[in-house]
Amino acid sequence: MAHEHDHEHDQHHHRHHDHGDIDWAGMAPLLESQAELYAPLYERALAWLARQQTDPGLVVDAGSGPGVVSCLLAETFPGARVVAVDGAEPLLERARARAERLGVADRFGTLAGELPGVLGDLDYPADLLWAGRSVHHLGDQRAALAAFAGRLAPGGTLAVLEGGLPARFLPRDLGFGRPGLQARLDALHEEWFAQMRAGLPGSVAETEDWPALLAAAGLGHPHSRSFLLDLPAPATGRARAHVAATLSRLRDSFGDHLDAGDRATLDRLLDPDDEGSVHRRPDVFVLAAHTVHTATKSL
Ligand SMILES: C[S@@+](CC[C@H](N)C(=O)[O-])C[C@H]1O[C@@H](n2cnc3c(N)ncnc32)[C@H](O)[C@@H]1O
Repeated sequence: MAHEHDHEHDQHHHRHHDHGDIDWAGMAPLLESQAELYAPLYERALAWLARQQTDPGLVVDAGSGPGVVSCLLAETFPGARVVAVDGAEPLLERARARAERLGVADRFGTLAGELPGVLGDLDYPADLLWAGRSVHHLGDQRAALAAFAGRLAPGGTLAVLEGGLPARFLPRDLGFGRPGLQARLDALHEEWFAQMRAGLPGSVAETEDWPALLAAAGLGHPHSRSFLLDLPAPATGRARAHVAATLSRLRDSFGDHLDAGDRATLDRLLDPDDEGSVHRRPDVFVLAAHTVHTATKSL
């Protein structure tokens, strides 16, 4: 998800170098804990959306994963029915369990299948269609957005979360190793991302100008806005766990592509017995930015 220059960091995928063949169900705990950590960012993004689309009847979360944002959508729009759509049924199971726990199950449904075609199975058009870091997993992003737009009711809004900035967790100079480790990991992620996209079924190279793609899908009134997740040091246990899980995946995925010095630095950062590790050092933080692009179907 990110890129093409979306610098979104789907760090969970790094383990999979096999061109987009991602084990989504296996990523459930990571997707869920990441989305929970990012909840303050999503809440602000949805509050912004709620000012554009005030009283939707049907809200669709396309590529919902385990449904953290789907449930936030249900909370933000108490009058709406929310349908979480995803290719991975085990993730939708989690979404349903979450809706049950949060007391919104009576107006919450799921739909399993391949995007964008599965949207044809919706009973009626959506007033708000949210796609959070999912479009970049579809081979033909332009066609996908056109299909999403085709499932909007007149006056409906399409909101696509793509792009932003790579997350930062640590100072540039850690006090050991060569400064700039995260920037070098970002560069490797970009390579992985490009290969992931190139390997998707029906992959089409596209200029990732999201407002232009929304306009090409026939939608008007484009807006783009970026939202920060700013969790300064000292980090909570949850933020530390996220940083450790993310760096650990990067170590597993890209370790072989780093030089010996950077590998040793990552090993220190991940060693719970090391005072300089992300488990113990006082300067760990989470700073990230995600961009949401919206546009509306004419009445
Ligand atoms: C990076 S996750 C994002 C999950 C969630 N929207 C979030 O922001 O946390 C991408 C999601 O898109 C789903 N997905 C990817 N390709 C898909 C496809 N072709 N059809 C349906 N779902 C797909 C995956 O199963 C996964 O849940």
